[in-house]
Amino acid sequence: MSGDAVWINARIATLAADAADGYGLIDDGAIAISGDRIAWIGTRRDLPADYRGVVEHDCGGAWITPGLIDCHTHLVYAGDRAAEFEQRLLGASYEDIARAGGGIQSTVKATRAASEDELLRQSAGRLAALIAEGLTTIEIKSGYGLDLASEMKILNTARRLARQHGIELRTTFLGAHALPPEFAGRADDYIAEVCEHMLPAIATAGLADAVDAFCETIAFTREQTARVFEAAQRFGLPVKLHADQLSDSGGAALAAQYGALSADHLECASEDSVRAMAQAGTVAVLLPGAYYFLRDTHLPPIALLREHRVPIAISTDCNPGTSPCTSLLLMLNMACTLFRLTPAEALAGVTRNAALALGLRDRGQLAVGMRADFALWDIGHPAELAYAFGANPCVGRIFGGKR
Ligand code: NIG
Ligand code: FE
Repeated sequence: MSGDAVWINARIATLAADAADGYGLIDDGAIAISGDRIAWIGTRRDLPADYRGVVEHDCGGAWITPGLIDCHTHLVYAGDRAAEFEQRLLGASYEDIARAGGGIQSTVKATRAASEDELLRQSAGRLAALIAEGLTTIEIKSGYGLDLASEMKILNTARRLARQHGIELRTTFLGAHALPPEFAGRADDYIAEVCEHMLPAIATAGLADAVDAFCETIAFTREQTARVFEAAQRFGLPVKLHADQLSDSGGAALAAQYGALSADHLECASEDSVRAMAQAGTVAVLLPGAYYFLRDTHLPPIALLREHRVPIAISTDCNPGTSPCTSLLLMLNMACTLFRLTPAEALAGVTRNAALALGLRDRGQLAVGMRADFALWDIGHPAELAYAFGANPCVGRIFGGKR
């Protein structure tokens, strides 16, 4: 049973679901690794004798947590929206800009025009910044292409980026993100194009692990979203939804009805929707960066999510329009200051619950059999990961058992 390596002299936060303290703290801990999996975890004095003689890494008292997971990003895009940020500061709303043909459309234009290599180059720095904070799994959505070739270009770029950077990737097809200009006034026709042409081609090419949509007054209706979900299910793909961000369109309840992995944003979600999510096991993905950057004041229903025991995940929503952010640690802080999550809830939101939001059962907590993905931190207690902002105390990243 001897492993390939042991990591000793560490303080560990396992983030196990049943941890009474919320963190699953192990003092003077040790982790043994076999291949890309955790073979043993516990206190150093209990480390089985079999592990004597295997390669030993001394953590020097550093903290170990599961590798961080960013479960909702639009990381692959071209250009930026700094001018739109200025417009909003002068009084225009996000919806005004979208209705005037800016917003998502301007990123679609830039992304369609960029070659795959250019898209890769522009996106690589963002991924590197996230990885520097101990990220080991990321989700990346399409949605700035809105035609088959451009959506495929984004998903292919995501795959290339992940290979280059050594990170686990889940891709999501978000064809129903906005109405492309060539379908202006013909939203139902575009949804037919998504369901009958784009989604089948992308699913057949194995380019997507899930399907997402934007259900909102400025995007797609519940009926249109349901058509996309049905098409996804025909191809055996799980669904997720940008739901109830700017208005209560019953999006989260619809997502739950389709057994969605997650419903994301949720600022305006109702108690009925929260109840439906609880019953369906749909994770709530909260995006404090978008809430902050849009200067939103309508808080997501945190108390109801807690009351109905809906798992809460936290993500960057990295995108050029509503959350140009490449720090998941900053999102931990904002989840606490803006949404009043506890530091332990916030940390579970970027580890255990972020894994659930991606349908991944083999990561997000440190336990025997889980992927050996973890981060090393120069901190005094894991609450500091949410407490400090603008700092990066990550001093090591172990990905699939390798540093
Ligand atoms: O998650 N809500 C829709 N999609 C993105 C924003 C996209 C954009 O403005 O470019 C979001 O907030
Ligand atoms: Fe998003």
